[in-house]
Amino acid sequence: MATVSPLIFHPRKTAVSGPRDAYGRTMNYLRISLTDRCNFRCMYCMPAVGMQFQPREELLTDDELIRLVGLFAETGVTKLRLTGGEPTIRPHLVDLVRQFKSFPNIRELSMTTNALLLSRIAGDLKDAGLDRINVSIDTLDPVRFRFMTRGGRFDMVWAGIEEADRVGLGAIKLNSVVLRGQNDHEVAEMARLTIDRPWQVRFLEIMPMEGVGLVYDEGLVTSEETHLELEKHFGPLEQLPAHPSDPARMWKIPGAQGTIGFISPMSEPFCDTCNRVRLTADGNLRLCLLHSDELNLRDRIRSGATDAEIVATIRGGIWRKPWGHHVHERQMHTVRGMSQIGG
Ligand code: GTP
Ligand code: 5AD
Ligand code: SF4
Repeated sequence: MATVSPLIFHPRKTAVSGPRDAYGRTMNYLRISLTDRCNFRCMYCMPAVGMQFQPREELLTDDELIRLVGLFAETGVTKLRLTGGEPTIRPHLVDLVRQFKSFPNIRELSMTTNALLLSRIAGDLKDAGLDRINVSIDTLDPVRFRFMTRGGRFDMVWAGIEEADRVGLGAIKLNSVVLRGQNDHEVAEMARLTIDRPWQVRFLEIMPMEGVGLVYDEGLVTSEETHLELEKHFGPLEQLPAHPSDPARMWKIPGAQGTIGFISPMSEPFCDTCNRVRLTADGNLRLCLLHSDELNLRDRIRSGATDAEIVATIRGGIWRKPWGHHVHERQMHTVRGMSQIGG
């Protein structure tokens, strides 16, 4: 009897490794911005005034979003991250999580949040299938927190993190963008959280995204500086292995339960191991955080494209994902600010 490759009968199995780009990188990670709105105005993310939000009719509806995520899963995406703006302000978030997690190829579903509203919904999100969260938190000082987020409530954020930890949305990662003269003297306090908690505290270099060029000019602190500051307090850190496509380089305080990550897009770009593409809240496939190159999937859906046509568009778009960026230009023309891309 002739032997027939099982792949002929199970075409999706060929796709599970994820769509590839022209450089041979595999994209198995989709970051989904659920909204461009946010209940904070972090100084490194949004301008203080004049932020324009997209009209609701331009945003993907729940049905459009679910359809698109299913099609990305079909191309071989296995990992999803929900972002914003702030994803917890998207209506029907728990239902969306349940739907996204029901696609068979989706192995991991996580969310990056400011945690302000998390304490009320962490349990429901966990039950619906959310695996873990990353939280943006730059300082443990409530007064400074209010200043850096332009109005944020630290007590509510901390309650959200603790509730997420309690319901098992871990291992929790905390993202802290280190800014000179703001929170750079507090990095040891943040890092100290890892001594008796199995969390990952990550220090990020600010990127000069649209709208925050001045904060970048005055604020950039490199990972090397942060590392040296931590070693003044804790002695030499231990280096740990990291997954190549993880933007964080991993270390720990000797004997600590948790770990410390450095995300260094300015001093140590990581384009060669990039495995991620993004879906903006208005339905564009964004190929790179730092390039304005996008493909409008929403209009294709609204003009009646079939699933096969959309999958072909996604694959074709990913093929031309760019490499490298001009992040050292004082302010890049990313067209969208960070809150409109979701990190
Ligand atoms: P996990 O590894 O799954 O925990 O998530 P993550 O680190 O990819 O997600 P998170 O939203 O916490 O991202 C942390 C930060 O890493 C982002 O805010 C960006 O500053 C940076 N980052 C994430 N993806 C990219 C990327 O593709 N390029 C660059 N330059 N920076 C990125
Ligand atoms: N540079 C680096 N990281 C940023 N974030 C927001 N704006 C910037 C910026 N200009 C981070 C937040 C959040 C993540 C999604 O993006 O800390 O954790
Ligand atoms: Fe909102 Fe996150 Fe931007 Fe802060 S960093 S303004 S919480 S989207």
